[in-house]
Amino acid sequence: MRQAKPAPSFSESNSADIFAERLAGVEQKPLPQILAAAVQHLHALIRDFRPTPEEWKRVIAFLTEVGHASDERRQEWVLLSDLLGASALVEEINSRRPRGATPNTVRGPFYRADAPHYPLGASISLDGVGERLLVSGRARDLDGQPIAGAVIETWQANAQGFYENQQPDMQPEFNLRGIFKTGQDGAFHYSTVRPSGYGVPDDGPVGMLFKQAGYSLRRPAHLHFMVSAPGFEPITTHIFDASDPHLAGDAIFGVKQELVVDFEEAGDGWKADVTFVMARSRNGVRT
Ligand code: BEZ
Ligand code: FE
Repeated sequence: MRQAKPAPSFSESNSADIFAERLAGVEQKPLPQILAAAVQHLHALIRDFRPTPEEWKRVIAFLTEVGHASDERRQEWVLLSDLLGASALVEEINSRRPRGATPNTVRGPFYRADAPHYPLGASISLDGVGERLLVSGRARDLDGQPIAGAVIETWQANAQGFYENQQPDMQPEFNLRGIFKTGQDGAFHYSTVRPSGYGVPDDGPVGMLFKQAGYSLRRPAHLHFMVSAPGFEPITTHIFDASDPHLAGDAIFGVKQELVVDFEEAGDGWKADVTFVMARSRNGVRT
């Protein structure tokens, strides 16, 4: 009887191949495929960095803490992905748009569904705390034609740099969040308060690790938007305050030149004007 050929034993030079061979016997679903690639890179990293067992234990302890710090209110894994630039890279790869279209950026952890719908011109500041900011804007297609009935959803931090869901006992529910619809001319406007920049949360294992390393966790002042209209690719993006000193060092790599806007003085407050340029859906189907 022929003996089965013994499998090569696991070694520094063939570890990733051995793993890939085992995986080849598994039904190829998206997870195993990305796992095979991840293991190639992980084993290469371990060979290069050569951690001691104690150092590797510290890595596992950190990842364990990240898991423990995550629940339905707080997503520490998303924060890790954001700070590593992984979320921004996934957006870059998946939301390539024709030149001139407004780029996508990450949505971030402070978004809440079910924000209130408001008529054009309403204020989303429910406590009135901060300097008044009038936001005007429009949704257009790539030919400059207005998009009527586009849904403009916005959310932002307050003048101290905190989102309503970070301060449920201090800010009214849904403060500084709202949903508007563009008029026949594709335009919208609303009133709010000027947001402050902020540091991403550093009270969890991810923020603490980056802070200890002396890495800046600052985000420049910004407004978040999600814009959608039938027949067009939805946009998830930010508008950044051009005067913010941290524009160049955004902790999560969201700043792009076309998203930077001047906040101009207007009466007793400020005004900002934004244009969202939407690309038609790739499949041409009106959604
Ligand atoms: C935000 O802008 O809301 C945000 C995005 C990613 C990480 C932390 C905060
Ligand atoms: Fe934000």
